[in-house]
Amino acid sequence: MHHFSYVGNNLHCESVDLATVAQLYGTPTYVYSAATLADNYTRLAKGLSGIDLQICYAMKANSNLAILRHFANLGAAFDLVSGGEIRRVLAAGADVKRSVFAGVGKTEPEIKLALENEVFAFHVESEPELARINHVAGKLGVKAPIAIRINPDVDAHTHAKITTGKSDNKFGIPLKFAAAAYEAAAKFPNIAIKGVQMHIGSQLTDVNPFVEAVSKVAPFVAELKAKYGITYFSIGGGIGIVYKDALASGQQSWWDNQPADKRPLTPEVYGAALLPLLKPLGLKILLEPGRNLVGNAGVLLSRVEYLKRGNGRNFLIVDAAMNDLVRPAMYESYHEIVPLHRDTTRPALVADIVGPICESGDCFAKERQLQQVGEGEYIAFMSGGAYGYAMASRYNTRGTAAEVLVKGSTFELVNARESFETIIANEKIPAFLK
Ligand code: LLP
Repeated sequence: MHHFSYVGNNLHCESVDLATVAQLYGTPTYVYSAATLADNYTRLAKGLSGIDLQICYAMKANSNLAILRHFANLGAAFDLVSGGEIRRVLAAGADVKRSVFAGVGKTEPEIKLALENEVFAFHVESEPELARINHVAGKLGVKAPIAIRINPDVDAHTHAKITTGKSDNKFGIPLKFAAAAYEAAAKFPNIAIKGVQMHIGSQLTDVNPFVEAVSKVAPFVAELKAKYGITYFSIGGGIGIVYKDALASGQQSWWDNQPADKRPLTPEVYGAALLPLLKPLGLKILLEPGRNLVGNAGVLLSRVEYLKRGNGRNFLIVDAAMNDLVRPAMYESYHEIVPLHRDTTRPALVADIVGPICESGDCFAKERQLQQVGEGEYIAFMSGGAYGYAMASRYNTRGTAAEVLVKGSTFELVNARESFETIIANEKIPAFLK
């Protein structure tokens, strides 16, 4: 559920007319709903109530400071993956002490920064990384808390580029080598074994791969608890969201009308399936949700520039591009596209929805049917809150989009559109070319 819907014929985020935002701040602009973010967080927390739960928001999905602060206020910690993300958490006025540091390529300066800020734990991906963390901790005279990431070799049945729990992925240590990795960890003088971690992939819409992975790893987790006294088990993130019927899925009635076997994964179903497996472990359980907390809480607003009638094909050219929202170009992913002003009397249009970037791949949708929209009118890309702005680039010297946060009937710019001056600020022409 979310807080984007038509009021009359105008698309609103909570009580704010999105056309007002587009007119005030221009386009492309990401707009987020504070109420949806909060609902997503509390719903997930409720879905897993009854255990010692720590939600570490996977901030890679959307790391705007306002969003981090909003989640911190709700009690979230963070799953972070770089020195930059550590510094973002601090800049948001949140603390790193309950947050976990993941990623296969942690550098020495990043490890040092994490230790100085008393990170909750490092999620270790390899033995060389363990040695490096031990070395840096030794230099600082501290013990580094760690969990090892286990690769359970379970197929998440999601897009190949976002599956991570198969043995041919670069992530984690295969279950059969994990015991040896923990033995190695125990020998390092500056390492403190605290937990175990796994994450099998992203945008899972079926609970079974989660159940399979947790069931597979749980006996090993119990062994680790007995042997090393670990205190937590992180089961990663990955809960999917609705992309196809994104707008309709904001309403409870849409969910009620889904046939049981077609109903997308909800926090309630996820919790009900996993709690019986997790409770008996008697450990703190960490979750690392990204998309599920922010995905449906954001849209990308864009302006129609031209309707180009081609040879048997129409192209709706809009002012957002693959540099703003790369998911369709990168993963062929579907984002629902809706007009900000709905007019059911207009004829339908079938068109490729494309951006202005000089690549054929700068295409959001092929032969998509939508209401006829003309130059100067606005559209919204639904489900843009996760991996939208976070994956933006400056390709074609396009500054990154503006970001706006809505709460009730108020809204604020939480990230200004990037200016040309900022884009070129660090560039210079060398003396030998002058
Ligand atoms: N934990 C770990 C260790 C991860 O690698 C990830 C995501 C998460 C948690 C959060 O997963 P989520 O709950 O958001 O599914 N850019 C892609 C998604 C990449 C996911 C990377 N890792 C996309 O736009 O679909």
